[in-house]
Amino acid sequence: MCGIFGCVLKQGKAAPLIHAALKRLEYRGYDSVGEITIYDGKLHMKKDQGKIDEVHKIHDLDDLPGSIGFGHTRWATHGAPLQINAHPHIDCKGEIAVIHNGIIENFAELKKELEKNGHNFKSKTDTEIIPHLIEEIWDKNPSLNLIEAVHQAVKRLDGSYAIAVFSTKEPDKIICARNESPLIIGVGEDGIYFASDIPAFLPLTNKAVIIENGELVIISEKGYEIRKIADFKLVTREPKIIDWNPEMAKKEGYPHFMLKEIYEQPERLRDSLRLQEHYLDLLATFLDRGTEIFLVAAGTSYHACLAASYIFSKLAFLTSYPIIASEFISQQGKSIGINSTILVVSQSGETSDTLAAVEYARQKAATILALTNVINSTLTRISRVYIDQLSGPEIGVAATKTFTSQVSILTQLAIRLAKKRGKVSQDEMDLLAEKIEDIPNAVEKIINTKAEKVKQIAKKYKDSKTFFFLGRGISTATAYEGRLKLMEIAYIPSIAFPAGESKHGPISLVEPGFPVVFVCPMDGTHKTIIGNIMEMKARGASIITIIEEGDEEIKQLADDYIEVPKGFPEVLSPIPFIIPLQLLAYYIAVERNLDPDKPRNLAKSVTVK
Ligand code: G6P
Repeated sequence: MCGIFGCVLKQGKAAPLIHAALKRLEYRGYDSVGEITIYDGKLHMKKDQGKIDEVHKIHDLDDLPGSIGFGHTRWATHGAPLQINAHPHIDCKGEIAVIHNGIIENFAELKKELEKNGHNFKSKTDTEIIPHLIEEIWDKNPSLNLIEAVHQAVKRLDGSYAIAVFSTKEPDKIICARNESPLIIGVGEDGIYFASDIPAFLPLTNKAVIIENGELVIISEKGYEIRKIADFKLVTREPKIIDWNPEMAKKEGYPHFMLKEIYEQPERLRDSLRLQEHYLDLLATFLDRGTEIFLVAAGTSYHACLAASYIFSKLAFLTSYPIIASEFISQQGKSIGINSTILVVSQSGETSDTLAAVEYARQKAATILALTNVINSTLTRISRVYIDQLSGPEIGVAATKTFTSQVSILTQLAIRLAKKRGKVSQDEMDLLAEKIEDIPNAVEKIINTKAEKVKQIAKKYKDSKTFFFLGRGISTATAYEGRLKLMEIAYIPSIAFPAGESKHGPISLVEPGFPVVFVCPMDGTHKTIIGNIMEMKARGASIITIIEEGDEEIKQLADDYIEVPKGFPEVLSPIPFIIPLQLLAYYIAVERNLDPDKPRNLAKSVTVK
C-alpha cells in the first residue's frame, strides 16, 4: 500500500503542494518517498529511502521547478526500501515518469520481454516496467500520442494499480489509470489534483471525483477527462462535495482507524491474493523439507498461526506446532536444531519476544521463515526467506486487516504445500482456488450488510461483565481472536476456549443472561457445537452465534445471530467469521464510550520482553 498525489496547476510551484500532500498520505506508507516535475522540457526528480521528513531534510522536497508534478510515498512490496526502488520510475531515455500504487502481477514476463528488447532496468520493482512499456510502445509507433501509448500499455497490465504518468514530449498533462487501487481526482480553482485518498487534497479543494476500476483519466490545466480502458469511451462524472472536518479526513471519513481498517479488508485481501509465486513456492519447499515445524508469533499473529496449524494439517497433512513467542525458548528450546523449521508470523516484524525466539533458533541452526507486514523490519533481515503480507500500514492498535491477510496467505501456503506433497486432489484444489478468490467479495458483503445488525447486538450486550467465545476445530482460532478484540478495546474480561472444554470447568461461570458467542461454520464440527449450544442454553446463557446463511437449525437456538455467506471450505472460514467479531468488539467499545484506536496500556508493537 503506497500513497500517490499529483497536480497540474494553472500557475505556481507544484513541489510544495506535493510535499504537503504526501505528508497527509504518509500513513499509507513511509519507507521511501519521491517527487518529480516537468519544467523547461526536462524531468526534475528527487527520491530517497526514509520517512518524508528525513528525505526532506537532505533533499528539500519543496525545491523542484514547474507547476506540473507528482509524488509517491512507499510501503515496499517488490524490492527493498532503497533509493533505487523509490518511485517515480523513469524510462531509458529519461522522458517518461511513472508512480504506482498496487501490484503488477505479470511484471516478470513483461520485464523479460522488455529486457530482450534492450530496456535497462535500475530497480527491483514491478512498477519500473510501466515507463519502459510505454517507451517501447511509443518507439514502435511514434505517431501515437501520450494518451494512446499509456492506454495501450495499461491494457497489458494485470494486477492492481493506480498509476500516474507524464512525459516531457507532452508536458502539459498527466495520465492516470486505475484498477483496484484507489484513485480520486480533486477539482480546484487553481488546478486539478489526483491522489490515493481525499484527505491528500482536501485543504486544496473539497470537490472530488472518484475514479472507478478500468478507467483512465487525462488531467490538464483545463480539467479532467475520464475514459474507459476497455473501449476508450468517454465517461461523464461530476465532482461531489466532501464535508469532512480535518480529524475525519485523516480517517477518510471513518470515526476511527480501526473501523477504517475493518472496511479496508476486501481490498487488502485482494492484494493478499497477488503474492509472488516463487516466494510462496520457496516457503512451501522449506516447510515440506522440515522435520518439525513450529509456528511462532504473539497476539493476533499467534491466532493466525493457530488457524494455520489446522489448515496445514487438513490440506497438506503436515503437523506443525503453534507456539506463543514468549514461551518458545523455555518450551521448545532444548529440542531445536538443524532439523527444525520455524515459520515466524509478525505484523510489525519487531515484536521483541518473537525476535528473541528467532535469534535463539538461528543460533541452533534452525531454518527461519517469516511472514510479515514490514519489509526491512528486523525479522526480514534475519530470516532465511520471508513473504510480505501486503496489508499496508495498520494504525489501530487492535489488529484487524493484518489478521485476515495473514490467514489468507497462510492458506495459500498450505495449498502450495498440499500440491507439493500430493495430498489434495485436483478437484479439491480447483475448488479451493476458486473459493479463496471469492473471499474478498464475501467479506465486503458481510461488512456492507451486517454492520448495522452487529451494532444493535453491541447495544444489547454492552454492559455484560464477561463473555465466552467458543468454537471447535479451526473456529477455535477465530474464537480466540474474537475474544482478544473485545478484551483489548472494550475492556471486558472474556474467555475463549475450544467448546469441548466447557464441561471441564468454564461452564460453572454460566448463569442466566451470560453471553456466549459461538462460531459455527457448517463444517465437521457443526453437529457437536449444537450440543455445546444446548448445554449453555440449558443454563440460561444468552446465545450469540455467527452462522452461515440459511443455517436454520442454529438460528432457532440463538438469541442473536449474524449470518455470513455460505459455502466456504472449512479452512477458509476464519476470514469471514472473524469480521462480525471485529465489528462486535468495535461497536461495544464505542457504546462504552471508549476509544478503540487507543486502548489503555497497549502498544501497536511490543519491543520489550
Ligand atoms: C501487540 C499488538 C497486537 C499484535 C501483537 C503481535 O500486542 O497490540 O495487535 O498482534 O503485538 O505483534 P506482531 O507485530 O508481532 O504481529
